[in-house]
Amino acid sequence: MYDEDRLKRTFALTLTALLGLMLAGAAPPSTANDDHQTALAALADIEAVRAEIIHIEDSQVVGHGGYLHAAHRALNAVVGSDDKMYAAADGTPGDASGVLGNVDRLLDRRDDEIWTPAMQGAKANLLAVIVNLNDAMHEKQMEDYETDLTEALANLALVSGRPSEDGVLGGLTGALANTSLGVPPGAKTVSGCTVPSHAPVYGIVSGRLAYVALPRIGGGTIPLEMSVSRVVVNGDAVVLYTQQANHVAELCRQARQDRSRAVRHDAVAVPGMLVSANAAPSSLVAHNAPAALIADATSSSGNPASYTVAQAHAGQAVFSANCIGCHGANLQGVAGPAVAGTEFLTTVKNNKWTLADLRSLVVENMPLNNPGTLTPEQYANVMAFLLASNCYPAGSVPFPQKDDPSFASIKVGPVAGAQPTDPKLGTCAVK
Ligand code: HEC
Repeated sequence: MYDEDRLKRTFALTLTALLGLMLAGAAPPSTANDDHQTALAALADIEAVRAEIIHIEDSQVVGHGGYLHAAHRALNAVVGSDDKMYAAADGTPGDASGVLGNVDRLLDRRDDEIWTPAMQGAKANLLAVIVNLNDAMHEKQMEDYETDLTEALANLALVSGRPSEDGVLGGLTGALANTSLGVPPGAKTVSGCTVPSHAPVYGIVSGRLAYVALPRIGGGTIPLEMSVSRVVVNGDAVVLYTQQANHVAELCRQARQDRSRAVRHDAVAVPGMLVSANAAPSSLVAHNAPAALIADATSSSGNPASYTVAQAHAGQAVFSANCIGCHGANLQGVAGPAVAGTEFLTTVKNNKWTLADLRSLVVENMPLNNPGTLTPEQYANVMAFLLASNCYPAGSVPFPQKDDPSFASIKVGPVAGAQPTDPKLGTCAVK
């Protein structure tokens, strides 16, 4: 099959191709806004090459000259007009940059873009396409010519890729569907950790595309390459989550942990606010004990996790009005994580969250699409509802409307001896 000459030729062509790649690499660097357009241009070129090859395979081309001409047109659309292999006489079904020029422009950007590995993979596969097409032009047998074209199509498919859970491996379409490359020029972007109530907007976390939010009324277009993993309606926005949503949730969680660690650090650094590190875990505090006794035990004001039944009931209404869309009717988590039950309490315990961490997270960051917008009373009530749902027993001391310094020493976690009303979720209904 591969005689020595042919191997040499292939090698020489590969070198030429590499040189061509390097030359194309000298194109002026583009701006972030252009990246999306450049990726789309590369995809359009890929389509043009594919159409050209299929045209040949459909036996619409006749004669040796015709085959050469057609294969060269396809090659032209791959390499672009600046490349040595470009044969001007044959013309191109693609743009002047070719797939290669466009991919190189993307690789010229900072090399730490999240989509850089995908572009490097695309380039390697493009190189193979170039070799296939050059081989085709040198074949003597029709059968060999066709085999080369079939290989070219297969390699081309790897260049365009497909949206995958691991966006960085998904070629051009994967990168468009899962990373900031999918954001059109001029489009508004926000942190992908928040759920937007207004659209259109793109949610990005560390270069990954978390979601595309479209207006509920007036529509908008779903990006072509996107595969939607989840849909959430919030206010006027329909939020379409990408396959990256899980990675994104993890990145957001890390960011939040860093933030809450910083908050905790600040609290400890304030003189006079240092509290005993061995304060009784909340689960050991007898909830039926008189408030004064508990106050003594913690050298501070009130039962650490205390709230009244009335507060929990009022908090349930606050939750339904402001939190349910993201955290679910059973607090099991929807767009946001679970906020009650086994899963939540395990997270909280592993992260060593204190009641102060939990309270500041809710008061300062929630509702995520509208942080800090509830009244102090509503926040106290919704905190009471969360504690009740996590099987913390009610007492006679209300949950405070202001920060309580003692909260910084109270660890949150599973309540000893709790009897969840929903054993599967590990949550307690508000009685
Ligand atoms: C628009 C969606 C949204 C709304 C509305 C919302 N949250 Fe959240 N919430 C989230 C997301 C997403 C996270 C996790 C990411 C983060 O905190 O950055 C979160 C995290 C939390 C957490 C921490 C849980 C954990 O394991 O990280 C609590 C507690 C919480 N929210 C309570 C509330 C309460 C109480 C309300 C209503 C007052 C509310 N949230 C409203 C989206 C929302």
